[in-house]
Amino acid sequence: MVKYLVALLGWVDERFPVSKVWNEHLAKYYAPKNFNFWYFFGSLAMLVLVLQLLTGLWLTMHYKPDATLAFDSVEYIMRDVNWGWLIRYLHSTGASAFFIVVYMHMFRGMMYGSYKKPREVIWLLGMAMFLALMGEAFMGYLLPWGQMSYWGAQVIISLFGAIPWVGEALAQWIRGDYLISDATLNRFFAFHVMLIPLILVVLVYVHIVALHHVGSNNPDGIEIKKHKNADGVPVDGIPFHPYYTVKDLVGVAVFALVFAWVVFYAPEMNGLFLEYANFIPANPIATPEHIAPVWYFTPFYSILRAVPNKLGGVIAMFSAIILLFLLPWLDRCRTRSIRYRSPFYKIGLGIFTVSFLGLGYLGTQPVTPAATLLAQLFSLVYFVFFLAMPVYSRWDQGQPVPERLTPNIPILERPGLPWCVLRWLVDKIQAHPQYQKLMPVVTARAEDVYNKLPPFIKVQVERFCK
Ligand code: HEM
Repeated sequence: MVKYLVALLGWVDERFPVSKVWNEHLAKYYAPKNFNFWYFFGSLAMLVLVLQLLTGLWLTMHYKPDATLAFDSVEYIMRDVNWGWLIRYLHSTGASAFFIVVYMHMFRGMMYGSYKKPREVIWLLGMAMFLALMGEAFMGYLLPWGQMSYWGAQVIISLFGAIPWVGEALAQWIRGDYLISDATLNRFFAFHVMLIPLILVVLVYVHIVALHHVGSNNPDGIEIKKHKNADGVPVDGIPFHPYYTVKDLVGVAVFALVFAWVVFYAPEMNGLFLEYANFIPANPIATPEHIAPVWYFTPFYSILRAVPNKLGGVIAMFSAIILLFLLPWLDRCRTRSIRYRSPFYKIGLGIFTVSFLGLGYLGTQPVTPAATLLAQLFSLVYFVFFLAMPVYSRWDQGQPVPERLTPNIPILERPGLPWCVLRWLVDKIQAHPQYQKLMPVVTARAEDVYNKLPPFIKVQVERFCK
């Protein structure tokens, strides 16, 4: 059997470079050996993209992109189509999961300076994907034709109306009508199911090609290509397959558990993933009391609302996104990773993160004078963090960077307050009588399962563990 498979592979290889691609991008792609938790999110983003494409495909089989039928077709999917509720909740939860994963992925890039030379193009392609993702989510949200779909789209498209001279004409051109209507729904459907997914898939491909061209960064921010052995292999690198394919599978398993919990027990996430007003059909003559976009847009929506003038708000919101594009050129520090940057930068990134989360929270809340003031303060932090970066990052040259990768210290042995708290928590859990009662049972069960595995899998597991 193996003989025939090898012969088949040889036959294909002569006509199409399967083995070459496999080796270049997996088996002989040497990735730094100190990837940590933060490196799960790239592969998870790809996983969620595939999930969205598949569930989206199934939803389109029953969805009707027609203003008179759309809302009911979604109800039909939820109530009458076999497993329709599951497909729809996988897709709606998948949208939020996509943004969680991508925000974590971007934050990793900011922590380890992955946007710096020679990875600027990877970052720019990432930002292009982020924009495409925002467009995809915005257009997808109109499709269920609920109250929030309708009024959310109304608010966002009317923002274009603030642009002097051409604004109103532009907003009308986007809507295809004087107000959000069947024409808008039809074009958003076409973009959501056809054009943007295509753009996303192409961008992901180019993102990976660019990454594999320059090689991956790592938590130490050191170039592993500087130290190679006689065979030209980086001494601090390990083949992506099987080491990181297996590691990424652990990330996938944990992600799948959390994701499934949300899908089955909290798909609306208390109105955060699916807003309550969206369970009411769109009504052009009744505005919901409080219009707010879905959580992943709220940091930018908060910046928009923080500026009293409409045009000023629109400019601030778009500038907030443009600044992210410029990050590789704003940061003048020679040190990549936050591990070796000054405490000043660490605190700065911490304050920026709190402000970004704060803006996100405030964007989900109704406007009050206190909330507006806080949003203005957080927006100021956001802009100062980026705009002052060329100055403070030039001055911040951090600590000396080691020549070679440093070993990953096990989580429970790391110094510092957050790890102390974690250690304390783990100790508490391990001392709990329920844990002590359950653990031997779980271990025995795991051993039982392992012993029943087919021998060829056990051989692979043992080889890998060695
Ligand atoms: C659909 C969305 C995305 C997908 C599927 C995706 C996928 C990936 C994958 C698989 C990797 C390699 C594994 C890893 O380093 O985690 C990667 C690396 C990277 N991505 Fe993305 N990505 C996405 C969005 C973004 C965004 C929005 C940004 C930033 C604006 C970004 C910036 C980067 C950078 C800088 C790297 C190199 C990281 C390093 O070497 O340390 N990506 N991406």
